[in-house]
Amino acid sequence: MIVEKNSSEIKRENGFIVFEGVNGCGKSTARKTAARLLAEMNISAVETFEPGSGTLGGILRPLILGEKAAWRSPIAELLLFGADRAGHVTEVIKPALEENHIVLCDRYYYSTVAFQGYGRGVDLSLIKTVNDSAVAGVVPDLVLLFDLDPLIGLKRTLRRAPSESGDDSFEKEDLAFHNRIRSGYLELARTALERFVIIDASRELQVVEDAVIKVLEHYLR
Ligand SMILES: Nc1ncnc2c1ncn2[C@@H]1O[C@H](COP(=O)(O)OP(=O)(O)O)[C@@H](O)[C@H]1O
Ligand SMILES: [Mg+2]
Repeated sequence: MIVEKNSSEIKRENGFIVFEGVNGCGKSTARKTAARLLAEMNISAVETFEPGSGTLGGILRPLILGEKAAWRSPIAELLLFGADRAGHVTEVIKPALEENHIVLCDRYYYSTVAFQGYGRGVDLSLIKTVNDSAVAGVVPDLVLLFDLDPLIGLKRTLRRAPSESGDDSFEKEDLAFHNRIRSGYLELARTALERFVIIDASRELQVVEDAVIKVLEHYLR
């Protein structure tokens, strides 16, 4: 497991950086920090997120994150996230990487493993098949996992300004669901050690921000 203190092991190969973790862990905050750092370094970056980026994503996001509906099932969720991601990769991520931008992506296929796999109990090999098809080899070079007790994350989302609110019905799921997601992420990190950096997101905003900057400065060197 790569942790902050030995992040010297991280090697930059390309420029696809993903931010993951439970709701309210600080992904969007960190993405903005990263974008600011890159701008200061004169490195061009594209900020993006899932679900809901690109033309198809714009249509799917309200469906995916909306209130419980009669059509909703774990498998329908998996396939909708898969469709959203396939469109996102084709229309946004791949072209940006080909133009040599650094891509800063808030959530990616790990979220589907954590939410639909560990959270909802969908078969992990089926999730892998859908994810692999959707990303078509476009895998991140670095994943920052913001590890946090979901209860703290939930409290943070309640304090979040309405303009920052994701209108995300997953935030209304019970704590056990979110705890399974947290464990799922940690399990995922254990199986992709070379790519993950786990950041303790329970610390003060400034401390977490400094940790993010330190990891990225090292990575971009
Ligand atoms: N380390 C932190 N300590 C306290 N509050 C934080 C911290 N990181 C982020 N926040 C705040 O918590 C809320 C959720 O953060 P956000 O970045 O939107 O999380 P996410 O995108 O992971 O759901 C925001 O209001 C943000 O300002
Ligand atoms: Mg966010």
